[in-house]
Amino acid sequence: LALHTDYIRDHIRTVPDWPAPGVQFRDITPLLQNPKVFRVLIDEFVHRYFDVRPQAIAGLDARGFIIGSVLAYELNIGFVPIRKKGKLPFTTVAESYELEYGSATVELHTDAVQAGDRVVLIDDLIATGGTMMAGKRLLEKLGATVIEGAAIVDLPELGGSARLRESGLPLFTLVDFA
Ligand code: PRP
Ligand code: HPA
Repeated sequence: LALHTDYIRDHIRTVPDWPAPGVQFRDITPLLQNPKVFRVLIDEFVHRYFDVRPQAIAGLDARGFIIGSVLAYELNIGFVPIRKKGKLPFTTVAESYELEYGSATVELHTDAVQAGDRVVLIDDLIATGGTMMAGKRLLEKLGATVIEGAAIVDLPELGGSARLRESGLPLFTLVDFA
């Protein structure tokens, strides 16, 4: 509903010049802090995936955990974390991707999903798309299919969502910021 997405947009805080000069940081913490908005937010994703019946929700470190775990709980399915390198204790698969300066690596437990599982991959925000693309590759390494990438915010001018869609990943995002 358009009313809901406006309500959600109105509770995202923009912090100028953080973490670096010139960056307009889209901060989702006010969405989580207000119980009414938090419920509307989570319900947007619950309604989207209620009849889709994925086998699992995979959340991206760290803000993807906050919404992904609640979504999985509401859908009565499991939640699996995709973590930054060095945090997961069991055997893992790993994927690296390029950042503006240097690179980053994310990991997933090898038993987190089964071959053939249909998984929804969720994060708070898509910027360059590198994080979500790496998460998709990790799940695919284990034979799972990422049926959709989901996020609260898309920053379309950074081109990440377009690249993800070009790679064949359907996306569901609630709010765009230019
Ligand atoms: C942010 C955001 C996404 C990612 C998006 O996380 O929460 O996970 O960046 O950027 P991308 O589309 O260019 O990959 P960040 O790396 O700041 O990590 P954090 O959640 O640990 O703060
Ligand atoms: N908010 C949260 N995470 C981010 C942002 C932002 O504006 N830009 C890149 N990652």
